[in-house]
Amino acid sequence: MTEITQADLALLAFAREAQDKAYAPYSGFRVGAAIFADGEIYQGCNVENAAYGSTMCAERGAAMSAVLAGKTYFDAIAVVGDSEDPTVPCGCCRQFLAEFNPEMRVVMGGRLDHVQVSSLDQLLPDAFVRGYLDQEAAAQ
Ligand code: THU
Repeated sequence: MTEITQADLALLAFAREAQDKAYAPYSGFRVGAAIFADGEIYQGCNVENAAYGSTMCAERGAAMSAVLAGKTYFDAIAVVGDSEDPTVPCGCCRQFLAEFNPEMRVVMGGRLDHVQVSSLDQLLPDAFVRGYLDQEAAAQ
Protein backbone atom coordinates (compact mmCIF):
# COMPACT_ATOMS: atom_id res chain seq x y z
CA MET A 1 0.00 0.00 0.00
CA THR A 2 1.22 3.51 -0.84
CA GLU A 3 2.20 5.59 2.18
CA ILE A 4 0.01 8.60 2.96
CA THR A 5 1.88 11.92 3.21
CA GLN A 6 1.03 15.30 4.78
CA ALA A 7 0.65 16.65 1.24
CA ASP A 8 -1.99 13.97 0.53
CA LEU A 9 -3.95 14.98 3.62
CA ALA A 10 -3.65 18.67 2.74
CA LEU A 11 -5.03 17.99 -0.77
CA LEU A 12 -7.83 15.92 0.75
CA ALA A 13 -8.78 18.90 2.94
CA PHE A 14 -9.29 20.98 -0.22
CA ALA A 15 -11.46 18.18 -1.64
CA ARG A 16 -13.53 18.16 1.57
CA GLU A 17 -13.97 21.92 1.29
CA ALA A 18 -15.25 21.47 -2.29
CA GLN A 19 -17.56 18.66 -1.18
CA ASP A 20 -19.50 21.21 0.90
CA LYS A 21 -20.46 22.93 -2.37
CA ALA A 22 -21.79 19.77 -4.06
CA TYR A 23 -25.14 20.13 -5.79
CA ALA A 24 -26.62 16.66 -5.33
CA PRO A 25 -30.38 17.01 -4.73
CA TYR A 26 -31.16 13.71 -6.51
CA SER A 27 -28.63 11.19 -5.21
CA GLY A 28 -27.78 13.00 -1.98
CA PHE A 29 -24.22 11.72 -2.56
CA ARG A 30 -21.85 14.67 -2.27
CA VAL A 31 -18.40 14.48 -3.87
CA GLY A 32 -15.51 16.94 -3.79
CA ALA A 33 -12.23 16.87 -5.68
CA ALA A 34 -8.99 18.84 -5.61
CA ILE A 35 -6.26 18.70 -8.23
CA PHE A 36 -2.65 19.69 -7.52
CA ALA A 37 -1.00 21.02 -10.69
CA ASP A 38 2.14 23.11 -10.97
CA GLY A 39 1.92 24.24 -7.33
CA GLU A 40 -1.73 25.30 -7.54
CA ILE A 41 -5.01 23.74 -6.36
CA TYR A 42 -8.15 23.37 -8.49
CA GLN A 43 -11.37 22.24 -6.87
CA GLY A 44 -14.56 20.67 -8.19
CA CYS A 45 -17.79 19.22 -6.85
CA ASN A 46 -20.50 17.07 -8.40
CA VAL A 47 -23.29 19.00 -10.05
CA GLU A 48 -26.46 16.99 -10.68
CA ASN A 49 -29.24 17.70 -13.12
CA ALA A 50 -32.95 16.88 -13.42
CA ALA A 51 -31.94 15.08 -16.62
CA TYR A 52 -29.83 12.67 -14.58
CA GLY A 53 -27.44 11.80 -17.41
CA SER A 54 -26.37 15.43 -17.63
CA THR A 55 -24.79 15.22 -14.15
CA MET A 56 -21.13 16.19 -13.91
CA CYS A 57 -18.70 14.46 -11.53
CA ALA A 58 -16.50 16.38 -9.11
CA GLU A 59 -13.25 15.13 -10.65
CA ARG A 60 -14.11 16.33 -14.13
CA GLY A 61 -15.27 19.66 -12.70
CA ALA A 62 -11.87 20.12 -11.05
CA ALA A 63 -10.08 19.09 -14.27
CA MET A 64 -12.04 21.66 -16.28
CA SER A 65 -11.02 24.34 -13.83
CA ALA A 66 -7.33 23.35 -14.02
CA VAL A 67 -7.36 23.31 -17.83
CA LEU A 68 -9.07 26.70 -17.88
CA ALA A 69 -6.11 27.98 -15.83
CA GLY A 70 -3.73 26.60 -18.46
CA LYS A 71 -2.67 23.44 -16.57
CA THR A 72 -2.55 20.25 -18.60
CA TYR A 73 -0.29 18.14 -16.36
CA PHE A 74 -1.76 17.11 -13.00
CA ASP A 75 0.49 15.84 -10.22
CA ALA A 76 -2.26 14.54 -7.98
CA ILE A 77 -6.00 14.52 -7.34
CA ALA A 78 -7.89 14.02 -4.09
CA VAL A 79 -11.47 12.75 -4.14
CA VAL A 80 -13.85 12.56 -1.22
CA GLY A 81 -17.43 11.30 -1.13
CA ASP A 82 -20.16 10.39 1.31
CA SER A 83 -19.36 6.66 1.31
CA GLU A 84 -17.93 4.97 4.39
CA ASP A 85 -15.07 3.50 2.39
CA PRO A 86 -12.92 5.96 0.44
CA THR A 87 -14.73 7.06 -2.73
CA VAL A 88 -12.99 5.98 -5.93
CA PRO A 89 -13.22 7.94 -9.20
CA CYS A 90 -15.75 6.47 -11.66
CA GLY A 91 -14.50 4.88 -14.88
CA CYS A 92 -15.35 7.91 -16.99
CA CYS A 93 -13.36 10.20 -14.69
CA ARG A 94 -10.40 7.81 -14.69
CA GLN A 95 -10.24 8.03 -18.47
CA PHE A 96 -10.75 11.80 -18.43
CA LEU A 97 -7.93 12.28 -15.91
CA ALA A 98 -5.52 9.95 -17.76
CA GLU A 99 -5.30 12.62 -20.47
CA PHE A 100 -3.43 14.83 -17.99
CA ASN A 101 -1.00 12.27 -16.54
CA PRO A 102 -1.83 8.56 -16.55
CA GLU A 103 0.38 8.10 -13.48
CA MET A 104 -1.01 10.88 -11.28
CA ARG A 105 -1.36 10.25 -7.57
CA VAL A 106 -4.95 9.61 -6.46
CA VAL A 107 -5.89 10.27 -2.83
CA MET A 108 -9.30 8.99 -1.77
CA GLY A 109 -11.38 9.62 1.32
CA GLY A 110 -14.89 8.98 2.60
CA ARG A 111 -17.01 9.84 5.61
CA LEU A 112 -14.62 8.17 7.98
CA ASP A 113 -10.92 8.77 8.62
CA HIS A 114 -9.77 5.93 6.36
CA VAL A 115 -7.66 7.33 3.48
CA GLN A 116 -6.44 5.36 0.49
CA VAL A 117 -3.72 6.38 -1.95
CA SER A 118 -3.14 4.87 -5.35
CA SER A 119 -1.92 5.92 -8.78
CA LEU A 120 -4.16 6.42 -11.79
CA ASP A 121 -2.42 3.67 -13.76
CA GLN A 122 -3.25 1.26 -10.95
CA LEU A 123 -6.91 2.29 -11.14
CA LEU A 124 -6.97 2.34 -14.96
CA PRO A 125 -4.30 0.13 -16.53
CA ASP A 126 -3.79 0.57 -20.28
CA ALA A 127 -5.66 3.86 -20.56
CA PHE A 128 -6.39 5.09 -24.07
CA VAL A 129 -3.98 8.01 -24.45
CA ARG A 130 -3.00 10.31 -27.31
CA GLY A 131 -0.09 8.06 -28.36
CA TYR A 132 -2.61 5.75 -30.01
CA LEU A 133 -3.89 8.57 -32.18
CA ASP A 134 -0.32 9.50 -33.17
CA GLN A 135 0.28 5.89 -34.28
CA GLU A 136 -2.75 6.16 -36.54
CA ALA A 137 -1.43 9.40 -38.06
CA ALA A 138 2.03 7.84 -38.63
CA ALA A 139 0.47 4.90 -40.51
CA GLN A 140 -1.23 7.16 -43.08
N1 THU B 1 -19.86 11.10 -8.64
C1 THU B 1 -18.77 11.89 -8.72
O1 THU B 1 -18.86 13.12 -8.56
N2 THU B 1 -17.58 11.31 -8.98
C2 THU B 1 -17.39 9.98 -9.15
O2 THU B 1 -16.31 9.55 -9.49
C3 THU B 1 -18.49 9.06 -8.89
C4 THU B 1 -19.84 9.67 -8.84
C5 THU B 1 -21.17 11.72 -8.37
C6 THU B 1 -22.09 11.73 -9.56
C7 THU B 1 -23.45 11.80 -8.89
O3 THU B 1 -23.76 13.16 -8.66
C8 THU B 1 -23.25 11.11 -7.55
O4 THU B 1 -21.84 11.04 -7.35
C9 THU B 1 -23.86 9.73 -7.46
O5 THU B 1 -23.42 8.94 -8.51
